[in-house]
Amino acid sequence: MKEAVCIASPSLALIKYWGKKDPILNTPATPSIAVTLDSLETRTIVRCVDGPDEVFLDGKKVRPSRYQAFFDNIKQLAGYSGGFSVESSNNFPTAAGLASSSSGFAALAGACVEALEYEISIEEISRLARLGSGSAARSVYGGFTRLGAGAEFAESLYPASYWPELRVIAVYVSEGPKSSSSRLSMEGVKQTSPFYDAWVADACAMEARARKALDEKNLPELGHIMRLSYLRMFGTMLAADPPVIYWHPDSVELISMAQEMRSAGIDVYETMDAGPQVKLITLEKDVDAIETVLKDQYPHLSYKISKAGQGLRWQTL
Ligand code: PMV
Repeated sequence: MKEAVCIASPSLALIKYWGKKDPILNTPATPSIAVTLDSLETRTIVRCVDGPDEVFLDGKKVRPSRYQAFFDNIKQLAGYSGGFSVESSNNFPTAAGLASSSSGFAALAGACVEALEYEISIEEISRLARLGSGSAARSVYGGFTRLGAGAEFAESLYPASYWPELRVIAVYVSEGPKSSSSRLSMEGVKQTSPFYDAWVADACAMEARARKALDEKNLPELGHIMRLSYLRMFGTMLAADPPVIYWHPDSVELISMAQEMRSAGIDVYETMDAGPQVKLITLEKDVDAIETVLKDQYPHLSYKISKAGQGLRWQTL
């Protein structure tokens, strides 16, 4: 029996992909720029079996339908007619807006190709991962990445070592699963939000500004654009019918906390994804001050601090 283990870390978008250009191909309507987070991990074991496909996520069996397009594609490409038995686990809350689908599908793609001994380039693994989740196309790479509008695979912009002082503090506002998957929310927003077309039209200009700020390692400018990106993304959700609301009271509290800290001279900028969690982007020099406030004012919330992390890593069982 052929088997393989692959580890991936989530890809946190600084500039958001939100909306699909082609829902079947799962290509993004907007470009995104992201950083891979080193302290969060998905570890996935894939075994090639004679039976049907089955997926266990954090020990629980999940419906394979979410994985079907992905499995069909890789089987066709690699000329494989058997099944996959998958065991995947996260060291962080699953499906809670912490980009678990990005690391999940990246690790799955890496483990499947390894188990099948199917030799393809990292771009092809990224293309495969995208079929499961757009953000997974970015997670296969470490460091700083980009997925262009309509792109079928992501690209590496800078390695993890590019910006050693950068830190991301992922604050867990709620560890339960989010109210609606990003896939469903994106579709609803595209169909019903009067702000959707404006969001897509504006996204390329935002990406250019963010790219320049990243090239210059200019955190105040990057943080500013990053905030515009996530808040405009949520603008499309709030205007949808029915509206999509992921925020919890603590999410809003943390947004205000970041604002107050910036007023006090601390370089901290927040972003959020399709869930209530808040990710604080900062520099090493300011981490202690932020941790002091989190521990003092939000003792009920846990958090994890990351640097830019590696792309796919393979292990032996
Ligand atoms: O990769 P998906 O299909 O789960 O969508 C990810 C969407 C966001 O996390 C909100 C933004 C992004 O670019 O990661």
